Amino acid sequence: LTRLWKVDKSVDRLITYPQIVEAARILTENEVVALPTETVYGLGGNAESDEAVARIFAAKGRPSDNPLIIHIANLNQLAEIVREIPETAEKLMAAFWPGPLTIILDKKVGKLSELATAGLSTVAVRMPNHPVALALIEASGLPIAAPSANVSGRPSPTTARHVQDDLDGRIAGIVDGGPTGVGVESTVVDCTGETPVILRPGGVTKEQLELVVGEVLTDPALTDSKQAPKSPGMKYRHYAPNAPLYLVNGDASDIQKLVDEKRGEGLKVGVMTTEENQHSYQADVIFPCGRRAQLETVAEALYDTLRAFNESDVDIIFGEIFPETGVGVAIMNRLTKASGFPIIEVAE
Ligand code: TXA
Ligand code: MG
Repeated sequence: LTRLWKVDKSVDRLITYPQIVEAARILTENEVVALPTETVYGLGGNAESDEAVARIFAAKGRPSDNPLIIHIANLNQLAEIVREIPETAEKLMAAFWPGPLTIILDKKVGKLSELATAGLSTVAVRMPNHPVALALIEASGLPIAAPSANVSGRPSPTTARHVQDDLDGRIAGIVDGGPTGVGVESTVVDCTGETPVILRPGGVTKEQLELVVGEVLTDPALTDSKQAPKSPGMKYRHYAPNAPLYLVNGDASDIQKLVDEKRGEGLKVGVMTTEENQHSYQADVIFPCGRRAQLETVAEALYDTLRAFNESDVDIIFGEIFPETGVGVAIMNRLTKASGFPIIEVAE
């Protein structure tokens, strides 16, 4: 049985709330609990316990070679799990923590479960910017390992309902703090070398990072499928809806032609569009995903929209693409992974 605790994230002294105290106690008993962060819901467990971490991997059906992010609530916790903090990392933490930035550093051996870091010599750490996550971590007194709280391969959860749909009956509890805000996961940056390298685009943009530390590189594997990604998780297909999703580089009338063709073959066709364009289509199911003019709203709605298609029993989905600037980089990274097909080029 999975317990559900509703928590109002705006109240003062959350750490003293009975729901938080209870969920924190369950974490100290090495059970796993889903919790809201500002990006997506995480599936939290005691990062010092092999037992807890094994439960996380089992509940998600996650491959054991894919390490977890360790969530902390204060910098004292950091000192216990990393060997040193290079100057670039220090600057990034000062600028973006708490927030949607995960930093890879050299691991201090001994404290953390080796399962959590998949036996690597490095560790991924982040301080989430969500009062419920921070209160839970603090109340438990533990570093909390937390991947996204979805079944591996499915879209990440942005509401407690999404977590229930995937993991009900498989985890001890869910702390419902309302919908998350950012909608895509944290940006993962490797700070173990001279120059920081983005291993996964996310809530903090490359442009924002560069304002703080100057040059920032991007793992070439993110755009070249022939290279092995430096972040183990990036090699897996992800975020996938049940029906095939084809992304189209073209305007609404180009996409409508593809829709008409498939409907002519008797298929039930979905279109993943934006609020600006939603009235430009005729299809079986039309879901707008945020406003194109403000890409943050697209990121926020992305996983809920992908999940909504699963409840609509369409046979095929055509989707609009987005400019790869700012958070658009993370949006297109997730969409191309969800699709798994090359983008259809119909623009003249
Ligand atoms: O926003 C987020 O980051 C969410 C919330 C819950 O905090 N968490 C999340 O975790 O997205 P997960 O497990 O779904 O993704 C973690 C990513 C994976 O791609 C993993 O391979 C990578 O971080 N990662 C973890 N440790 C690493 C390491 N030592 N070196 C390189 N990549 C690492
Ligand atoms: Mg994930």
